[in-house]
Amino acid sequence: MRGIIKSMKLDQKKVIVVGASSGIGASIARALGAKNCSIGLVARREELMHGIADEINTRAGRTIAQTYVGDVTHFDEAEPLLDRIAGDMGGVDVLIYVSGIMPAVQFHEYSFDKDRAMIEVNLLGAMAWINAAAKRFETARAGAIVGISSIAGDRGRGSMPGYITSKAALDAYLESIRNRISRYGVQVTTIKPGYVATDLLGGAKTPLKAISPDEAAAAIVSAIEEGAQVRYVPGFWRWIGMAVKLAPSFVMQRVKF
Ligand SMILES: NC(=O)c1ccc[n+]([C@@H]2O[C@H](COP(=O)([O-])OP(=O)(O)OC[C@H]3O[C@@H](n4cnc5c(N)ncnc54)[C@H](OP(=O)(O)O)[C@@H]3O)[C@@H](O)[C@H]2O)c1
Repeated sequence: MRGIIKSMKLDQKKVIVVGASSGIGASIARALGAKNCSIGLVARREELMHGIADEINTRAGRTIAQTYVGDVTHFDEAEPLLDRIAGDMGGVDVLIYVSGIMPAVQFHEYSFDKDRAMIEVNLLGAMAWINAAAKRFETARAGAIVGISSIAGDRGRGSMPGYITSKAALDAYLESIRNRISRYGVQVTTIKPGYVATDLLGGAKTPLKAISPDEAAAAIVSAIEEGAQVRYVPGFWRWIGMAVKLAPSFVMQRVKF
């Protein structure tokens, strides 16, 4: 799906990646490094981010990636940290919010603590960072906001109510921000991956083959550069999402996925 925003090339852009210490976020940071972007990597695991930044900087032959320790559940710290990174990079063109958790939840387990943790990281942290970026981008009349959601947000399923709710709400939030801010030339892209082979899956067997985080990152970079509003990764998940949305409730109440 494309909107009213013109496509943007990411080469040499100033990009903040929140959730850049592993998996999809780390691969996005590397892909941006190959495009000579200035990159601010944010996450809690500093050592992992140092390794990724060193790799990017060595390849670039100069310092283009810098690391910032941040916990997205410290909501008040999002805007000051975004301002600090923008100060260090001489501005910011793109915010990519990747952070997410999906703790194992058994089918008969009802854990408010796990549900709350997922809402805090996957949704509230995203809102804190995206609000801070949107304010800045609306004033600048430019910029792009990218949220890594999930195919999981497409339909309520019995397997992981908290995770699904966090991603469905993130979808709605990103769409709302898009409908508010695209008139000012700001792009908002919702990314909906299927299975990606990262720590998040915890080695679980997946019914369809998981793609690599590098493959996911390449598709995400393309989606941003093409000005996509919503992009399933890989693209065939769009049809699965459509089928799941159309499935009658009596079917959804019988399946356990
Ligand atoms: N893997 C899949 O199959 C799949 C499918 C659909 C959507 N997704 C989404 O893709 C995103 C990335 O996940 P992944 O698969 O790449 O898993 P991952 O390797 O576990 O990466 C998760 C990232 O989130 C960060 N994070 C978690 N809690 C945080 C916190 N409190 N503060 C700051 N950062 C935090 C982690 O950094 P620190 O722990 O260092 O803080 C890490 O960088 C998530 O939003 C996930 O829901 C994944």
